Amino acid sequence: MNSNSITDIKRYPLKKNDLLQGWDAADSLILEHMSTIELQGKRILIINDQFGALTCGLMNHNITTYTDSYVSYRGILFNSHQKVTPINNLNDLEGVYDYVLMQIPKNMSFLEDILIHLTNHMLPHSKLICGAMVKHLAPTSFDLINKYIGTTSTSLAVKKARLIFASFEKEKFQNIYPQRITMDGFEKPFINHSNLFSRDKLDIGTRFFLEHIPKGDFHSILDLGCANGIIGVRAQELNSNAKIHYSDESYQAILSATQNYQNHFDKTPILHWTNCFEDGPKNSLDLVLCNPPFHQGTTVGDFIANQMFKDSYQSLKKGGFIRVIGNSHLGYQAKLKHIFGNSKIVATNNKFMIVDAQK
Ligand SMILES: C[S@@+](CC[C@H](N)C(=O)[O-])C[C@H]1O[C@@H](n2cnc3c(N)ncnc32)[C@H](O)[C@@H]1O
Repeated sequence: MNSNSITDIKRYPLKKNDLLQGWDAADSLILEHMSTIELQGKRILIINDQFGALTCGLMNHNITTYTDSYVSYRGILFNSHQKVTPINNLNDLEGVYDYVLMQIPKNMSFLEDILIHLTNHMLPHSKLICGAMVKHLAPTSFDLINKYIGTTSTSLAVKKARLIFASFEKEKFQNIYPQRITMDGFEKPFINHSNLFSRDKLDIGTRFFLEHIPKGDFHSILDLGCANGIIGVRAQELNSNAKIHYSDESYQAILSATQNYQNHFDKTPILHWTNCFEDGPKNSLDLVLCNPPFHQGTTVGDFIANQMFKDSYQSLKKGGFIRVIGNSHLGYQAKLKHIFGNSKIVATNNKFMIVDAQK
């Protein structure tokens, strides 16, 4: 391990006195298991490392580490002292891996996509070793591993974590991702990658938000937390002269938004693969459109929404405004007022509230 021990692994973004740990018992179990194996000359692929516990624990070996998450990417860079740069596109996997170590994702389509990719990079001697906290372990994970990799066996649960093992017994599969999805109100289908918010249908909140995208004298509009970019596409349709920015912490979201935007318009958007809008340009945007997430990986809360509102405040021009949608009970109106000094309800229905706040 590059840090002294797994307990030194920090979460990204770095916070003073962060009480949340940057690793879990599944990481420890995987590392313990790997410490019993001779790894000289073996190629190891690490998938979905949260903040670098697995990467740092094995970085003296021949490893490749993949993550879709910008937050994890920065965590891995930080904890490995910039010695390991993760890849963020499954198409960048190369050759055959002897060991594939994976933190099982919550999203089963993403797991399926990863496993299908792995069928091109495993041979019968290759071993898949997955770790998960028991409370997050869906039965579908076993079905998918059985289907694409081979028969599963499990370890005993230790500290509420468990390992799943499978050797490669199957064949290469043709990938079913990304998927083409038809959306009401749009002539062209959307290309949705597997790790996307509401990847197989139009979300009801998004549908309501689409009815309230403003038209005006906007030069630059940010679709913050863009997923497949549908909000930015509608904003461009209504504001043909505006420059559209997309940002998301999922690399697959950035890929989807780019493809969907380019399917609709003969120009390119400005892309930001980032956490909230932390490195965004200051005092430069006219409008931010945001349907915030209420979780990051398995951590639930409104801390990301809050950070998105603060970053938007920094990036908006004076007079520019943010339009936010959320479940009415989330209280975004008060949170925005706290940051912007004002907020105004634009629309409500039985579930959602749309709120503006001006800089
Ligand atoms: C509720 S979805 C909204 C998607 C889309 N804009 C819509 O309205 O259908 C929230 C989006 O925020 C992204 N997200 C989650 N955490 C993030 C973070 N820390 N920084 C930036 N984006 C994040 C998710 O990947 C997801 O695409």
